[in-house]
Amino acid sequence: MKLADNKATLSFSNGTPSVDLPVYQGNIGPDVIDIRKLYGQSGMFTYDPGFLSTASCQSGITYIDGDKGELLYRGYPIEQLATKADYLDTCYLLLKGELPDAKQRGDFHDLVLHHTMVHEQMQFFLRGFRRDAHPMAVLTGLVGALSAFYHDSTDINNAEHRDVAAIRLIAKMPTLVAMAYKYGIGQPFIYPRNDLSYAGNFLHMMFATPCEEYKVNPVIERAMDRIFTLHADHEQNASTSTVRLCGSSGTNPFAAIAAGVACLWGPAHGGANEACLNMLEDIQRQGGVAKVGQFMEQVKDKNSGVKLMGFGHRVYKNYDPRAKLMQETCDEVLGALGLENDPLFKLAKALEKIALEDDYFVQRKLYPNVDFYSGIVQRAIGIPVNLFTGIFTLARTVGWIAQLNEMISDPEYKIGRPRQLFTGSVRRDVPTSVKR
Ligand code: SDX
Repeated sequence: MKLADNKATLSFSNGTPSVDLPVYQGNIGPDVIDIRKLYGQSGMFTYDPGFLSTASCQSGITYIDGDKGELLYRGYPIEQLATKADYLDTCYLLLKGELPDAKQRGDFHDLVLHHTMVHEQMQFFLRGFRRDAHPMAVLTGLVGALSAFYHDSTDINNAEHRDVAAIRLIAKMPTLVAMAYKYGIGQPFIYPRNDLSYAGNFLHMMFATPCEEYKVNPVIERAMDRIFTLHADHEQNASTSTVRLCGSSGTNPFAAIAAGVACLWGPAHGGANEACLNMLEDIQRQGGVAKVGQFMEQVKDKNSGVKLMGFGHRVYKNYDPRAKLMQETCDEVLGALGLENDPLFKLAKALEKIALEDDYFVQRKLYPNVDFYSGIVQRAIGIPVNLFTGIFTLARTVGWIAQLNEMISDPEYKIGRPRQLFTGSVRRDVPTSVKR
């Protein structure tokens, strides 16, 4: 980051001496006011719950222009990566900053695709869960448990350990997600296959059984790979900020990523795809498109607590570019599977059309986000609704790792320790009448 010509001066009406604050600028995007010395010079904190106006770090990984609806991974537009590269190319790009050349690509793909097995003891770990446990509960446990198996890659301050842990997490997450699914439906786990692509291997582990040959459908394989790419990283979102804060204590990479898994589960974040599909199925049950108007009135009624899941975003105040690509993927997959008349897809498009013309949404700049269509395409592929966030977890693992590694390699990083505005009881003594 570079010092801007501009400066910020904070003055106080109560005579507290004004404070000069440096302004830094990035290569693109808003400048930042450096407030690190503010408390020391003024005795005051800034106050920004939800971090609406706070940059928590400097980063060179992902840039989002919410007004334009632009998403760049290391400078490359998501639209180009989703169509010209594959997910493992994108992983390489996010981790190393550049797209791989032919040799680097081959080596990286081989490295990942030959580390997809998990320790055989992991299957016994799963047996501790009820069969009907939510897959995100299982995954939160399994990812944290990885640190119990890989002591040779738990030192986050050791660059080699970080590299090994990155490959292990990217390679093994599909295996863990598929195991969580198979465990839930009572089918045997399917071992990974090194002769398949990353997405093809995942589909095989999910839908193959020991009883017959499972053929990967290339249209579904490409769609799955694109879904992974669209979810790979997204700047300092809630789960990435969780991973950074957790990792800032020096804990091992597996524990920090497990914290991200737990955060992503929430319906306001990665859990929105599951919530969105459930919302569409509810409306469909109540009458489908004919009921959309009534549903939208509920959404606009603050007291109803009903939100249009898959809509709105803290950063995008324009169409989420991932939602557009996800809608195209929906068209492709539904077409390939002969499901062009999928009622939920029609319902989603009707909802979107009405919302984009409704003042409530227009005024608040609420557009479809990545979660609005992702559930429809995953459902068409055969992925159960309660596993949608598990797919998001699988795909976002590389983004969490890249952001964690960037933080650890930043000489300025310290353990994260926010302060507060205290509004509780001031000092008081326990009354002597209280007998113990
Ligand atoms: C992801 O951060 C990331 O980058 C996340 C993510 C990633 O890749 O990591 O992009 C993935 O999490 C996408 C978002 C998925 N969540 C949902 O689809 C859940 C539904 N969306 C909302 O909960 C909400 O839009 C958020 C949480 C996404 C954003 O919330 P903000 O930025 O805190 O905005 P807000 O709640 O203050 O909303 C502003 C206004 C409010 O109305 P007013 O108080 O001004 O009258 O818009 C309303 C909100 O009530 N609003 C909605 C709405 N989203 C916002 N009203 C109805 N339906 C919605 N979906």
